[in-house]
Amino acid sequence: MGNVIWHNATVKRQHRNQQNGHNSAVLWFTGLSGSGKSTIAHAVEEQLYQHECRTFVLDGDNVRHGLSSDLGFSELDRKENIRRIGETAKRMMEAGILVLTAFISPYKKDREMVRNLLPLGDFIEIYCKATLETCEARDVKGLYKKARAGEIQNYTGINSPYEIPIKSEIEIDTDKLNLEEPCEIVIKILSERNIVNLK
Ligand code: ADX
Repeated sequence: MGNVIWHNATVKRQHRNQQNGHNSAVLWFTGLSGSGKSTIAHAVEEQLYQHECRTFVLDGDNVRHGLSSDLGFSELDRKENIRRIGETAKRMMEAGILVLTAFISPYKKDREMVRNLLPLGDFIEIYCKATLETCEARDVKGLYKKARAGEIQNYTGINSPYEIPIKSEIEIDTDKLNLEEPCEIVIKILSERNIVNLK
């Protein structure tokens, strides 16, 4: 970007965080389709919102209707999808927002790319762990059925890989837990890290 010069804002992240009364961060939910990423992200957001935190959920299905509507599900397209989300989440974090993202993000190197894009400690990876059997049994959108029938190519878990995170900050066993427990776990970590201080 030789001829593009970065413009430095005078109102910085630290000022916004001060004004908001909490720090910003990126909570990166990853897991198979149907593993509960969106559901948990929205439930955590709801609680943070009740405590007057500035939050926003970037959700796979919504982003793919707009920002990433030109992308499919090949390895390269997913990488580009995650790169765009990572950059967007970073800007939103600088705007003082607690950003919750819910994307399958199946490739370890793509998740690491986003982790490395952010200052140390600002990326919190949350692995929503559920067996393929569970996700397939839920099949909320009916897409596993279509993938099994050969109507969808490169479907994660069926004919496209999901690389399990090994060093995520939080692992949530969504096979076993109800909605309340994951929310508590996530909010506890945010408190322990002094990102939020909920009264
Ligand atoms: S990611 O791999 O690039 O992170 P993303 O989270 O944006 O995926 O989108 C996943 C959603 O797209 C799924 O929840 C599902 O509804 C839909 N989808 C459509 N085709 C596929 C596919 N081939 N693999 C996975 N998800 C798909």
